[in-house]
Amino acid sequence: MKKLFFIVTVLSLTSFAQTAQPQAPANLGATMKSMATSLKKITAQAADATKNAESEQLTLDLAAMTKNSKNFIPPTLKNLPADQQKVQLEQYNKLIDESVTMIEELAAAFHDNNNTKATDLIAKINAAKKEGHNQFK
Ligand code: HEM
Repeated sequence: MKKLFFIVTVLSLTSFAQTAQPQAPANLGATMKSMATSLKKITAQAADATKNAESEQLTLDLAAMTKNSKNFIPPTLKNLPADQQKVQLEQYNKLIDESVTMIEELAAAFHDNNNTKATDLIAKINAAKKEGHNQFK
């Protein structure tokens, strides 16, 4: 009985530890979906200066999620010959890096209560998204 109690305790602690950890998505599609949810929320409140602290935090989360997209190879590149894949992957990573830079600038704009700059940066992030999707989706 004691042994059973021990096992149940260990199992429930382990599963708590797993659920308590924020998990990074396991694939590019899920990563991008999470990015889209954040960006939608950020865009909706970008002009509302009373929400700048929250917007800054959401944008920092978006930056982390965007960085996570570098852990994956876009499915469209998976079957390319190795040399072509290497070139395309460098271009993909470059565009993701540029997006991360703009997203970090967006977080700084919210921090500085510069909502005009924030709106401008959101337009630029959407342009990078369009370019990324045209090239790699
Ligand atoms: C903040 C900007 C971006 C947002 C909000 C966004 C959003 C999305 C969404 C919603 C999807 C569809 C996911 C699904 O339903 O499975 C997607 C897919 C994709 N995105 Fe983005 N994206 C962004 C930027 C980028 C950039 C910059 C690139 C490339 C450099 C990129 C590359 C891709 C690729 C390759 C897919 C296909 C993933 C797959 O099929 O597994 N995205 N994105």
